[in-house]
Amino acid sequence: MSARMDLRHLLQWYLDAGVDETIGDAPVDRYALAAQDRASKPPRQHQAQNAGSGREASPVRPTPSRQSRTARPATPETAVAGARADAAAAQTIDDLRRSLEVFEGCPLKKTATNLVFTDGNPQARIVFIGEGPGAEEDRRGLPFVGASGQLLDRMLASIGLDRSRVLISNTVFWRPPGNRNPTMAELSVCLPFVERLIEIVSPSILIALGGAAAKTLLARNESVGRLRGRWFTYQSGGLAAPIDTAVTFHPAYLLRSPDQKRAAWQDLLRLKERLESLPPDS
Ligand code: URA
Repeated sequence: MSARMDLRHLLQWYLDAGVDETIGDAPVDRYALAAQDRASKPPRQHQAQNAGSGREASPVRPTPSRQSRTARPATPETAVAGARADAAAAQTIDDLRRSLEVFEGCPLKKTATNLVFTDGNPQARIVFIGEGPGAEEDRRGLPFVGASGQLLDRMLASIGLDRSRVLISNTVFWRPPGNRNPTMAELSVCLPFVERLIEIVSPSILIALGGAAAKTLLARNESVGRLRGRWFTYQSGGLAAPIDTAVTFHPAYLLRSPDQKRAAWQDLLRLKERLESLPPDS
């Protein structure tokens, strides 16, 4: 086989493994860096038990998970427990963002460039939850700013909305490599942050964009085609009242399946009608 063919096979192997971007000119041996890092650190005096985030115990206002952290999660269960403790301690979206910035319990963080958390209005009456960041979102650290985000903006505009009137987030906050679907473990460890975000914003209406968001918010496994066109209720422990929730097609799916745009348009009209029926201060 020629050297050229070898290179093509190597590139294809990278693509299949989800490596679809170059981020530097020279290769970096991360194993060697980690070994150097370990060698340069004094041995730890004390190993904490809770593994949600990588922060050291803090002298200021300790929260349950801050009191007991290790640098890496021991198991997916301890990572979820850490996520729950961190999320529960947050009182604002900025608190949640700061927690996520130091959270080490989601393996997606290791391959992502940026945290992608929210965009829009923290006081919005409507919250959209998508699936997970793509390449452009990962580069810019904002949700829905690539091709599907542009379609979402046009969908919002068609019913008189824009990002100043909605809040947008995702089921996972770091880009799954190669845009693969998030795994159950990744969804589970991000879920406490999604739930707390919804509690903090406490919107009147919640929209799940696509199947991953529907599964996360409503614990329903049916296809989007079956779930759309109805109102569900979303509830979590910290909410004063259930939230009206609808499912519609993910904009990325609409880009691939333009024949479904008619159904999505009907969903948008239903949403507009529901928004207009809300009392002015709810
Ligand atoms: N798709 C998503 O689900 N979320 C984004 O932020 C971008 C694309």
